Amino acid sequence: MAKPILVANWKNHPSSLKEAADLLTTLSRRSMLYKKLSLYIAPPYTYFESVSKRIKGFANLASQDVFFSADGPHTGSVTPDILKSFGVKLAIIGHSERRALGETNEVVATKLKTAFIAGIVPLLCIGETSRDDEGNHLQFIQDQLKFSLEGIRRKEDAEKLIIAYEPVWAIGKRASEAMSPTDLAEMVIFIKKALTDIFGRDAADVIPVLYGGSVDGSNAEPLYKETGIRGFLVGRASLKSKEFCEIAEALISS
Ligand code: 13P
Repeated sequence: MAKPILVANWKNHPSSLKEAADLLTTLSRRSMLYKKLSLYIAPPYTYFESVSKRIKGFANLASQDVFFSADGPHTGSVTPDILKSFGVKLAIIGHSERRALGETNEVVATKLKTAFIAGIVPLLCIGETSRDDEGNHLQFIQDQLKFSLEGIRRKEDAEKLIIAYEPVWAIGKRASEAMSPTDLAEMVIFIKKALTDIFGRDAADVIPVLYGGSVDGSNAEPLYKETGIRGFLVGRASLKSKEFCEIAEALISS
């Protein structure tokens, strides 16, 4: 049985390398726990070197983005080759906070292709900004998947993909405002159906779906149990060692 997946998206935190090092020292004390997971830590780029050394043996380095082109001069961009040279194994692609800056499904599709070519596992983020009784959010999710995955058709690629379902309305809230386990279970079925339409049943079956949005130690277990997700993409709680440890324990014990 594949290990549960836990991805820490540190976003633009913590605000100093010293705080990042202290957090990792605390996490490393529970390395035996974290080894039971496929654990990825996505810090700000400037912390890569230090973080990659400190997580050896219990976690993998991940990137919060990948540039859509591998070649040519691109001021201010970090290309897949640079990510690879630091040992990056997975890249978060199409996070809602990047989409809010203007990143379209077309750009996301190009980034996914670049990641596949570089041998970096793409973690494709999808999620609606709001829901309504007419179910327009379902069409929105279907379109995000269809257009973000445009051009990815090889079964070998599909089987390496990971999806993170992060409803935008549930990000950055209190745990009680996260999606309910019942609604999440329904969405996972919907996402799997949409993936089946794109890649066929066999490939869709093996693509892990993660959930993100206000996960912490108090709601991780109900959100993981019986919803069909394979793990979490965690923001704020990944910067608090106690919360993060509780999330890890929920993934292992459920
Ligand atoms: P929070 O866990 O802080 O709600 O953030 C979720 C997220 O955006 C992870 O990518």
